[in-house]
Amino acid sequence: MEIIHLSAECYPVAKVGGLGDVVGALPKYQCQAGHYAKVVMPAHNTKFMHQNEWVNDYEGDIWLGSYKLHYVILKEKTHKLGFDLYCVLIDGLTNREKVYDTDDTERFLAYQIATLDWLCQWQHLPDVVHCHDHHTALVPFMMQYAHAYRRLRRVKTVFTIHNGLYQGWMGWDKAHYLPAIARGSEGLLDWGGMINPMSSAVRCADAVTTVSWSYMHELMEKAVGLEGLFRQEARKCHGVLNGIDTQIWDPAVDTYLPHHYSTEDVQAGKEKHKKEICEMFDLNPKNPLIVFIGRLVAEKGADLLAHAIGRALHETQGRVNFLVLGSGADFIENELSALKMFAKGVYNCFIGYNEALSHRLYAAADFILMPSRVEPCGLNQMYALRYGTIPMVRSTGGLQDTVKDFGEQGGFGIRFNQATEDDIVISTHRALQLYYSQDLFQAIRARIMTFDHSWETSQENYRRIYEG
Ligand code: ADP
Ligand code: GLC
Repeated sequence: MEIIHLSAECYPVAKVGGLGDVVGALPKYQCQAGHYAKVVMPAHNTKFMHQNEWVNDYEGDIWLGSYKLHYVILKEKTHKLGFDLYCVLIDGLTNREKVYDTDDTERFLAYQIATLDWLCQWQHLPDVVHCHDHHTALVPFMMQYAHAYRRLRRVKTVFTIHNGLYQGWMGWDKAHYLPAIARGSEGLLDWGGMINPMSSAVRCADAVTTVSWSYMHELMEKAVGLEGLFRQEARKCHGVLNGIDTQIWDPAVDTYLPHHYSTEDVQAGKEKHKKEICEMFDLNPKNPLIVFIGRLVAEKGADLLAHAIGRALHETQGRVNFLVLGSGADFIENELSALKMFAKGVYNCFIGYNEALSHRLYAAADFILMPSRVEPCGLNQMYALRYGTIPMVRSTGGLQDTVKDFGEQGGFGIRFNQATEDDIVISTHRALQLYYSQDLFQAIRARIMTFDHSWETSQENYRRIYEG
């Protein structure tokens, strides 16, 4: 089957969060399963673009309203990601250092239109166009109703929601950017008086998926106004849990790690990493180490961290270390930085994005904290499991689907119900209790490393959806 993935991010070309990881891995596993999967993304101005060789695969012109834009389809020469990678270059619009910017409506519209224009030039048709998140969400509508793309009408479309909070809303004053569409089809773009790309994709795609079963149920209850639509379209909506790229995320081979380990030497392996990280960040290696890795935004519960950590350190009399890696809202960054003054030796933070450090933290940590208010899937807890790090998660979305509390039969993690300081503090006490029950702690650690969250199962679920 030939599958074309459209996405704003794809690791290692450009990654802001989990979307990049997913689109960098799923096509590779689809190719390994015998499909012909490709990624078509905007040509962002990232390191990867400069460090690799590209060929001009196609050039053309499109109209964005009254602006004529020239686009170039660049193809990565060596197939190094395990799938064909195409980047859409529109000078001044796609080639920015930032993946997301303030004029995303125009930028991503131009990228979507150029991609469809190019697909229409192909001699053959692909089997599936698989769109990810709102940046690509107008594609299923345009494939059905834009006169220029009639040729693509019979190609199947799948729309995957990685984050339902961002729907790509735009005013009707921007409608002139769209290509000419069939009379009467405007209603499929409208939601509450705005153009809502996500709602159009939910209505026009052949299948709609999101990245965990629980999040699909949550969307039917609460989806910034689209909940009724998800219920109405329930028959074509599916939850497909993400996988992780076990060829990259494996502590036995991870190229970012200075030392490797596996289930056989997990204790010694993690100790080495923890010692080094504790030295680097001036933490106490005798204490358990709890890390947070992620975007510092309210969705992730990051606004709760500084106060909750302060309280947990006070209540446990400094018998635990916390280390935060992340960037995001200024006020959260400031609070987390300020806490360093008051909790020397047991708390530290690194404000910024650092891929290499994140891998070392998964390896060094005893626990990973994820107090998310919303978590469609969450990859951090799956990486953590693979690295023998016990997840402490709020029961929501994909966290609920992948983590079982150690108090339950067969459980291995720590779960809590509310995204509150209280629940984080209580979970810290429970983490300490588990840490000092060393036999149980070591047994859980070795067991979680063996869990199978690889892409093989998820890619098979996508195959069934494509065929369905
Ligand atoms: P989301 O996509 O909502 O941010 P996910 O859990 O799906 O959440 O994926 C987050 C990904 O981004 C993981 O690979 C995580 O390790 C990575 N990540 C997040 N923040 C940082 C950071 N500051 N430095 C390095 N990696 C980060
Ligand atoms: C989104 C979600 C996250 C998910 C990721 C990949 O960014 O916030 O929960 O893991 O997409 O699907």
